[in-house]
Amino acid sequence: LLFSGCTDNEKEKAVETKPLIQKGEYVLKFSHVVSPNTPKGKAADYFEKRLEELTEGRIDVQVYPSSQLYKDNAVLKALKLDSVQMAAPSFSKFGKIVPQLALFDLPFLFKDMYHLHRVQDGVVGQKLKDMVSSKGYEALSFWDNHFKQLSSSTKPLIKPEDAEGQKFRIMSSKVLEAQFHAVGANPQMMPFSEVYSGLQQGVIDGQENTNSNIYTKKFHEVQKYLTITNHGYLGYLVVMSEKFWASLPKQLQEKVIIAINEATQKEREYAEELNTQQFNLIKEYAQKTGKLEIIQLTKEQKDAWRKAVSKIYPDFYDKNKIGEDLIKGALATE
Ligand code: LMR
Repeated sequence: LLFSGCTDNEKEKAVETKPLIQKGEYVLKFSHVVSPNTPKGKAADYFEKRLEELTEGRIDVQVYPSSQLYKDNAVLKALKLDSVQMAAPSFSKFGKIVPQLALFDLPFLFKDMYHLHRVQDGVVGQKLKDMVSSKGYEALSFWDNHFKQLSSSTKPLIKPEDAEGQKFRIMSSKVLEAQFHAVGANPQMMPFSEVYSGLQQGVIDGQENTNSNIYTKKFHEVQKYLTITNHGYLGYLVVMSEKFWASLPKQLQEKVIIAINEATQKEREYAEELNTQQFNLIKEYAQKTGKLEIIQLTKEQKDAWRKAVSKIYPDFYDKNKIGEDLIKGALATE
């Protein structure tokens, strides 16, 4: 139908000039540090599949999990150089670029995941993304892991005082450092890829992470006590190299946006599902082996932790740290 009324010669010409889909015209490397079977890992794989479908292979997405390509915050430098095109580092790892993202590290700031999503999807979230964009990154989307739990091999953590003198691994975050200092503990910054051996060799006594990260990296197998505190949130900002983004024609940029929006919806589902599932697997391990004690806190016990650590908020009111407006804005979000 398209060619009706054309001569044979004209038809041939039209076929010749039709732009050919060039497979792998753009290569997008996506580096992350967690296992494939985690919310971030699964969403990255979903994004790969969707974007390749939507662009008919013009963008070849290659996902590198488990710190294979870059560890922790090293990826942010690599993104600047366009040595890698996409990553989803946790907020703490933006410390040197946009320290204000550590808002999400503040313990007990969010009532639940609903509250958290309202903050991310609202004014506060947009302000933070703009700060990252102004530093030369394409800030795409917030992704979840979930709330963190505390574990130790030295002492069960029931009261905040139980943490006194214990060494805990933290991500590179001033907020997390302050959180552990507030209970008299010793925070030690360490890349995610070194936590398992750090726990196994006793370089650190304990750590904090989500059930999904604990299970998939087997931290529970080298810890004696796991306290369900849900004290802080772990999440990510998906960022793209500015150079790569600018190299894409508009119609491909639009496909990236579609794929990332869909992947974000999926990511939130994976985060809920996997954290529940993987917590059940940790419980099964504890029951079977008797090597891990899981501690559920009473409301009073949890309130004591909240009181002990939330006193650090005013230390971050300075706008070069986080900013009072962002902290109060998040607290007031309904
Ligand atoms: C961590 O270092 O504990 C996390 O940032 C790992 C991750 O990306 O979930």
